[in-house]
Amino acid sequence: AIDIEKLRALTGAITLDPGYKNSGSCKSDITFLDGEEGILRYRGYAIEDLAEQAAFLEVAYLVIFGELPTKLQLEQFETDIRKYTLVNEEMKNIIDGFPKTAHPMGVLSSLTSALTAFNPKVVNVENEKEMYEAVCKTMGKFLVIATWTYRKMMGYPLNYYDNTQGYVENFMQLMFKLPTGPYSANKVVVDALDKLFILHADHEQNCSTSTVRIVGSSHAGLFASISAGVSALWGPLHGGANQAVLEMLEDIQKDGGDAAKYMAKAKDKDDPFRLMGFGHRVYKNFDPRARIIKKAADEVLRTLGVDDPILNIAKQLEEAALVDDYFVSRKLYPNVDFYSGIIYRALGIPTDMFTVMFAIGRLPGWIAQWKEMRINKEPIGRPRQVYTGEPLRNFVPMDKR
Ligand code: ACO
Repeated sequence: AIDIEKLRALTGAITLDPGYKNSGSCKSDITFLDGEEGILRYRGYAIEDLAEQAAFLEVAYLVIFGELPTKLQLEQFETDIRKYTLVNEEMKNIIDGFPKTAHPMGVLSSLTSALTAFNPKVVNVENEKEMYEAVCKTMGKFLVIATWTYRKMMGYPLNYYDNTQGYVENFMQLMFKLPTGPYSANKVVVDALDKLFILHADHEQNCSTSTVRIVGSSHAGLFASISAGVSALWGPLHGGANQAVLEMLEDIQKDGGDAAKYMAKAKDKDDPFRLMGFGHRVYKNFDPRARIIKKAADEVLRTLGVDDPILNIAKQLEEAALVDDYFVSRKLYPNVDFYSGIIYRALGIPTDMFTVMFAIGRLPGWIAQWKEMRINKEPIGRPRQVYTGEPLRNFVPMDKR
């Protein structure tokens, strides 16, 4: 047992809050989130309005710079991002060093970090021009290398950004254009992706964003900080959940499609299995993004004429959880990742790439939070601990152990 009085005497008063369930780490002007009411706003604008009426780069500009861009500002932003979409050719040697079986998130984290080697200039965050260039550079290069992780996995030649197309269309052609023939992205697919990227653009102090801020708080560069964010996002309790959801649905399907059996497993405290895509640290009512995305999933599947049996399993789980005491009492509702994987699958995106999709969407948030943290001159992030190990011990020489 911990002797609190003794600990206080040793360490001073320390708030112990594992997982930071109730500790704020910063003040922020970027995203407002009310988990009880299911409200999400970027810079004061409701997520529902942004998903319905804005485009991804417009939202990225809003999240990063604080205001919706004028038409001219948006066009300039797109043009400036385009300028930085060429990635140093030597980066290809680094990609070639990975086995084809490497997970795209691991490759993406490494490549993002490697960008530092080719762009060593330290950004002066207070110089607006330098900061703006760093934003455009990150938005441009990250999209390209993110798609290269897929090309590598498939053994395809790498594609270059097409200056005649928009950012999201470019994502599609960078991913799927074959060396033979032209490529034109399906509009339904592009619109759906645009929406998905908007829904993921920021989510205040989640695990990957806090990672970006804490790494950046040591004044590590933007690429290095974002690379750490990619690694944090990879885990199945965070962004990796979208891949885990799809794999879980596939497993249930292979096992005869018995959703009730998996509900029972999720409730069994002796079984480590969790229903992936359910629950959220902050949303205890519903995840507003899940509502929007569920509607989008229905539309996309209908328009593309996709009849996916996995969707039936997803619906069974969702309906069962809504009336199940275990899930209701713990306020476990489907989160954004429960539906995003279903759309990605319908769009032909391989399961291993799902979390990379999340990373592309979350990039504006990471950049905005890094920029805000540096401009606000936040101190280095350095949590304390409550030591529970041995008291002072006499050293034991090797021959006495
Ligand atoms: N399936 C079954 N039980 C669950 C689940 C789940 N998906 N999620 C939480 N629980 C249970 C826990 O076992 C715990 O039960 P107990 O009170 O009897 O011990 C209770 O609900 C509270 O769960 P915690 O783990 O304490 O909640 P926390 O806030 O720490 O975790 C998290 C939130 C990580 C999202 C969790 O709900 C989870 O693991 N979900 C599945 C993974 C997932 O979908 N992650 C994506 C999150 S959204 C995103 O990153 C965009």
